Amino acid sequence: MSYETLIVETPADAAGVTLIRLNRPDALNALNSRLLEELSQALDAAEADDAVRCLVLTGSERAFAAGADIKEMSDKTYAEMFAADFFTKGARRIEQFRKPIIAAVAGYALGGGCELAMLCDFIIAADTAKFGQPEINLGVMPGIGGTQRLTRFVGKSKAMEMILTGRMMDAAEAERAGLVSRVVAADKLIEEALAAARKIAGQSPLAVMMNKELVEAAYETTLSTGVAMERRLFHSLFAFEDQKEGMAAFVEKRKPHFKGR
Ligand code: CAA
Repeated sequence: MSYETLIVETPADAAGVTLIRLNRPDALNALNSRLLEELSQALDAAEADDAVRCLVLTGSERAFAAGADIKEMSDKTYAEMFAADFFTKGARRIEQFRKPIIAAVAGYALGGGCELAMLCDFIIAADTAKFGQPEINLGVMPGIGGTQRLTRFVGKSKAMEMILTGRMMDAAEAERAGLVSRVVAADKLIEEALAAARKIAGQSPLAVMMNKELVEAAYETTLSTGVAMERRLFHSLFAFEDQKEGMAAFVEKRKPHFKGR
């Protein structure tokens, strides 16, 4: 499928990995309705394709995404925003996506762009990355989870300062604060993200999905409920051939070959 606002690639040296590039260079990848609709379509296609085991979502060197498209949004009424579930519908598709998505962030990740990165499973940042929720400067607020996720990731004090002042955080601060899993040189960003994705794509896709669900549950439930869920899913993995294969491969000192069953 071809898209107007995305470039979707299957890198030759990364079996099982799909690389999605946001591609609105003239608008610093601002997230308009078209882009969010196409991203939903690309996720549908990736979810339906058993060969796809992990996604990498990235932007350009200058911007991952500079937020929701302000020009598209500025004249909307409350009724239009509400009736169309404007902007927020696309975010829900990402929340429901069951395969892992890595955000590879260089340059600006602002407003909806920062929120989009946080909707992914983890963020690898280039040393050029800048994160922020500057919606306050526009008289509004984050709309796809920024007030909640940023607070959970970096704590109340830093999140409150960023959201109320619009201050940006550079890559080093984002790593110290726990927003990103690690920072790499900008010219190594895609290589590093693809290497992580390739590693995930080689694991049992069933075990990967269950692990993802449980880490997400840690944000939604109490410790005892999360641990109880983990216990159930841990035992359930023994119903899959992939568990037998993974453990047999260890004992036989060979690489496992997971089939997703
Ligand atoms: N929406 C629409 N267009 C945008 C945009 C956005 N969020 N961000 C940048 N652009 C456009 C600019 O208008 C400009 O287009 P023109 O050349 O046609 O004028 C082009 O991208 C390049 O941008 P700049 O000239 O501004 O580039 P810069 O290097 O001087 O500044 C920047 C970069 C600091 C990121 C600046 O563009 C900026 O502040 N952008 C807006 C950031 C923002 O406020 N994001 C939050 C949006 S609201 C939101 O996201 C809501 C939500 O959570 C639900």
